[in-house]
Amino acid sequence: MSAPPAAFDPFSGPPRLHGARRIGCRPGTELLHPIGVTGVRPLEWNVEGLPDGVVLDDDGVLRGTAPAEPEVRPLSVRVRNELGVIDEQIELCIGDALALTPPMGWNSWNVYGAEVTAEVVMRMADAMVDLGMRDLGYQYVNIDDHWHAEARSSDGRPLANPRTFPDGIGAVADHVHRLGLKLGIYSDAAPLTCGGCFGGFEHERLDAETYAAWGIDLLKYDYCYAPIDRSTAMARYGTMSRALADSGRSIVFSVCEWGWRKPWLWAPGLGASYWRTTPDIFDSFSWGPGGVRGIARRNVGLDGHAGPGRWNDPDMLLVGNRGAGHSTSVMRTRKNKRQIWRLRGIDEVQVQTQMSLWAMMAAPLLASHDLVESTDHDRAMLMNPEILAIDQDVLGIQGHKHGAAPGLWILAKPLHDGATAVSVTNMTRFARSATVPLSDVGVGLATSASITDAWAQADLGEADRLVVRLRPYESAVYICRPVDG
Ligand code: GLA
Repeated sequence: MSAPPAAFDPFSGPPRLHGARRIGCRPGTELLHPIGVTGVRPLEWNVEGLPDGVVLDDDGVLRGTAPAEPEVRPLSVRVRNELGVIDEQIELCIGDALALTPPMGWNSWNVYGAEVTAEVVMRMADAMVDLGMRDLGYQYVNIDDHWHAEARSSDGRPLANPRTFPDGIGAVADHVHRLGLKLGIYSDAAPLTCGGCFGGFEHERLDAETYAAWGIDLLKYDYCYAPIDRSTAMARYGTMSRALADSGRSIVFSVCEWGWRKPWLWAPGLGASYWRTTPDIFDSFSWGPGGVRGIARRNVGLDGHAGPGRWNDPDMLLVGNRGAGHSTSVMRTRKNKRQIWRLRGIDEVQVQTQMSLWAMMAAPLLASHDLVESTDHDRAMLMNPEILAIDQDVLGIQGHKHGAAPGLWILAKPLHDGATAVSVTNMTRFARSATVPLSDVGVGLATSASITDAWAQADLGEADRLVVRLRPYESAVYICRPVDG
């Protein structure tokens, strides 16, 4: 049983690299990538190996145009501050695969719902930088449903709501890009979105072109009001994916049909980077379809389908929602949208368990609360370097569930440096103890492993087993590094 973890201060200590170490970009398209480094400011940057046409700005953001031909190019990153220096390798991967590690960012839906505005989106982008989230690898600021005008323009182009996005989406993209962040948008493979705005069906080419002209970096493509069969879904997602690929911009494609048609089997082949595996998340820890445990249960067995550039998406993080999200706290009937259930939110231990499981499952990490109002606990949850490194590991392996002890989940996720991340979750409302022999969860042991408690960021010494005591609903996450014979 451990105390709640303290928030990591991204503006203290020697330099430390976080976030994606492999950066995907399509040949000849605009490249924008903030290299995530924390530490006392000022940081002095130097990157070697950059291709012509790409420069590093004073803030550690790579900007320019990617090489015209596919290649994998190692970059040496050297960052210095008054306390130390790091020399690390990252890779620029020019090709069709984007999101080579799970996307990290923010999405407007859970907290703002239909109330999203340009002002909110830009404020969240500013907060992402001010809080140091960008330095820990968060990059995407995603506008969900309800950015739309009443109708398309007379020539069929998508238009933003002139009241809530008075200067258009392009102006928001400019603001977000200036900060070194990326902008996501939302549409639907039908004439209407889930919220009743205009969808993308039969406008795919024009929409993709317009999104590219606006500077969009990610599209979440929903499936309300579309036919239920799988082949129509594949055709509609395929059409949009091709339009994005031809748009001249690197736009990450996110499929959102709630896992009903097993998108893990076909979405990667269509060029999608991630796909929802479940219905919408609600601010509940239940085993029901929208609760954290219910969603985790659906997502956890799909580990064989995830990998670099292809991720299972169990929906957004509930961090900071506290039962106050527009979309997550009230369950409504589909038909007349009447309230049927009011949720009070999940507690801090349960938030930590969601964060642990999502990182172990290599899920996209999309916060969805008002970042400006983040508490110390919210920051501790979103910005733990060890937990984020597990999610962002370059091998891109989704953790596998081992064992069958009732109410106890044990996940193991091999990492690129030979270590294995192991999480133990108490899914019950009673305190639990557990002993997990490391050889049972695939840690290749000669004798023992050195163990780090990821949440506490503390070394626990060497052992050949984990001995864990957990409060109700609590998770512990360890990084186990085999010690030579
Ligand atoms: C669907 C999606 C949600 C959100 C809403 C917007 O329900 O699953 O994530 O995008 O639509 O209306």
